[in-house]
Amino acid sequence: MQRKVTKAVFPVAGLGTRFLPATKSVPKEIMTLVDRPLIQYAIDEARAAGIKEFIFVTSRGKSALEDYFDTSPELEASLRKKGKDELLEVLQQTNMESGAIAYIRQHRALGLGHAVWCARRLIADEPFAVILPDDVIAGEKSCLQQMVEAYEETGGCMVAAMEVPPAKASAYGILDIESEDGAKVKVKAMVEKPKAEDAPSNLAVIGRYILTPDVMENLNRMKTGAGGEIQLTDAIADEIEAGRGVYGYRFRGQRFDCGSKAGFLQATVAFGLARPDLREEFSEYLAEMAALKNAAQ
Ligand code: UTP
Repeated sequence: MQRKVTKAVFPVAGLGTRFLPATKSVPKEIMTLVDRPLIQYAIDEARAAGIKEFIFVTSRGKSALEDYFDTSPELEASLRKKGKDELLEVLQQTNMESGAIAYIRQHRALGLGHAVWCARRLIADEPFAVILPDDVIAGEKSCLQQMVEAYEETGGCMVAAMEVPPAKASAYGILDIESEDGAKVKVKAMVEKPKAEDAPSNLAVIGRYILTPDVMENLNRMKTGAGGEIQLTDAIADEIEAGRGVYGYRFRGQRFDCGSKAGFLQATVAFGLARPDLREEFSEYLAEMAALKNAAQ
């Protein structure tokens, strides 16, 4: 029986340079997919997986993120007075229970591994999840929930894994596979951002993890890796070296890289088309655009 995963770390202290100038004043995680900020999708996924404590690793300029999870008494009173119950309910879903949410500062953007390490005292000796809100995953069952269920069988560390074409390997951590058992993959090594010809497989790590507290110990060494950053992948790979289990999990669902402009636009189209209140108007517009593009060619 594994210990239950009830804590999740959300590293949101990156500089978000790919979205400049917007991210000069708006945290990337507050950017909106249809009508909800990226961070709301991440929180909903975590809640569906049974997470009870939400730890945000933030940095300067991210106060909009903290405000987002506060109650807004004036707004709520105004909606109540006007009888706008549906909106009131939408708003109330964003409120977090007092004490369920914690904010830690990463004073310098030294890498994802370093950001996770900043949460070590709140994690203490428990297994924990890490969710990167840039990766938005659409699917029937929340990706993290699928992983928690698989982790109950495997224990150890688990990373969400997705097939990518060789040309894209250099943008990801890539798994070297020892054996496979359905959606679960036993990992024998992990390589951060390899060249296409050096990639040991086509299975890439994306932004969902279940980690043991040993990973925090590994991060204590502050080893710098690819790009001169303290990489989370390296600290997980150290677990393999230590003879402890590391697994990849081929999740069911569609992942959008909302940390990139093209990925964000694709997610906007997909989520827009999935919304009953927008589908008809939006798909008509997209069809018109496609027809215009074809006519121009
Ligand atoms: P990215 O690699 O996407 O970096 O980080 P970034 O700074 O957010 O964005 P770009 O590349 O400059 O556009 C992946 C995740 O790791 C977090 C980010 O907030 C994001 O959720 N991160 C990264 C930190 O919290 N701290 C860091 O030092 C680096």
